[in-house]
Amino acid sequence: MKVVVGSNEKISELIAEEFIKQVNKKPNSVLGLATGTSPLGVYANLVKANKEGRVSFKDVATFNLDEYIGLEGTHNQSYRYFMNENLFNHIDIDKSRTHVLKGTGDYLAYAKQYDEEIKKFGGIDLQILGIGSDGHIAFNEPGTPFDSLTHVAELAESTIVDNSRLFNDISEVPTKAVTMGLKSIMNARKIVLIATGKNKAKAIYNLLRGPKTEEVPCSILQDHPDCTIYVDEDAYSLVK
Ligand code: GLP
Repeated sequence: MKVVVGSNEKISELIAEEFIKQVNKKPNSVLGLATGTSPLGVYANLVKANKEGRVSFKDVATFNLDEYIGLEGTHNQSYRYFMNENLFNHIDIDKSRTHVLKGTGDYLAYAKQYDEEIKKFGGIDLQILGIGSDGHIAFNEPGTPFDSLTHVAELAESTIVDNSRLFNDISEVPTKAVTMGLKSIMNARKIVLIATGKNKAKAIYNLLRGPKTEEVPCSILQDHPDCTIYVDEDAYSLVK
């Protein structure tokens, strides 16, 4: 794993440049996308680059990591809504080529064929990840098998507390999600992970210095052949 340390602004720019390079090299790239606060700067940079004509997303396909069970795609905390608001509505992407797991209706059937669907598109070329304070990636909480594919996950109590800041009340935070598994994520050809802030320091320490264990889901990334960890000084503070 490579590590890049910089301000949130800087690392967001660097990751956006990785996406731009990827799409300019292969216009029909398959991009793996994440939600959460961490990738917001990256998406803002991609919107800007698209408006400036530095990159076009018209032929790309995207697959998102996860979705809350129980929220319609129109709910303002659903990850489909997040992606539309923060990226898809502002770039020249073909929305029919954007994939976000469903949180309602036939969500189980859709989840079951998600990994196959990714394969049909040729596999993920570049995957962006955030990280939970407990070391989760997507919604793969501690204890998730390393060989997991897309599945239904129970959110850890700490994740419900972390994510409640975005809801009116903690009781509104869904307790379950559909998520790509750890194996689904490891299948991506290239991975970039972004983490900022002191509350990610322990997870980043465990990722970079800890043993590879299912108790720390992100530690599986130690085995990925092309994974770069982008952090700010606060997230990196326990490693130095
Ligand atoms: C959620 C998402 C993760 C994300 C994490 C961190 O739990 N399922 O994909 O990485 O939150 O979010 P944030 O970037 O807001 O700290």
